[in-house]
Amino acid sequence: MKHELPKLLYAYDALEPYIDARTMEIHYAKHHQAYVNKLNEALAKHSELEVKTIEELLKDLEAVPEDVRMAVRNHGGGHYNHSLFWDLMAPFDATQGRPKEPEGELAEAIKSAFGDLPKFKEQFANAAAGVFGSGWVWLTLSERSESKGLSIMTTPNQDTPVSKGQKPILGLDVWEHAYYLKYQNRRPEYVEAWWNVVNWEAAAHNLGK
Ligand SMILES: [Fe+2]
Repeated sequence: MKHELPKLLYAYDALEPYIDARTMEIHYAKHHQAYVNKLNEALAKHSELEVKTIEELLKDLEAVPEDVRMAVRNHGGGHYNHSLFWDLMAPFDATQGRPKEPEGELAEAIKSAFGDLPKFKEQFANAAAGVFGSGWVWLTLSERSESKGLSIMTTPNQDTPVSKGQKPILGLDVWEHAYYLKYQNRRPEYVEAWWNVVNWEAAAHNLGK
């Protein structure tokens, strides 16, 4: 079974003006497609890996044969992270006139971990600004620790929280390819704009899974 580019649930221009259509198109159709292609290329050398989902591969990279482990980590990670990322965004709801907010269990979990939503956003934005070079910032749930609490973590390159025993709830791509056309070097502006298109329902779904 070959890995495939997941369907994008909205049009390229649906996240305008926060994320521009051209960036969405290149990011999804070129960058993400390239991760998928290179992952499939690597896995073609090991037909025994065909039965594993991308999450299973990334959860236990040590079990992946050494000759393709780095390819799975980078391209498989890229495929997995971007698949999450697209679903974690949705068009701004103009009828509300303000960004949506988390509800229910997710809202409670954020409150208990960070105090309130603005404090969470501030810590998340600071973490995003602190990623040196290319990487991601995440809100994760620890699957290993006793506390079962939410925390913020960053990963370099296309490394993914599932390889570190963390369940990703929300994630933001801070590679330059995610924002350079519109924001150039102004990553904090991109992060600030991104809150307008966060799909909190998808994040809540990730928490409940
Ligand atoms: Fe990306």
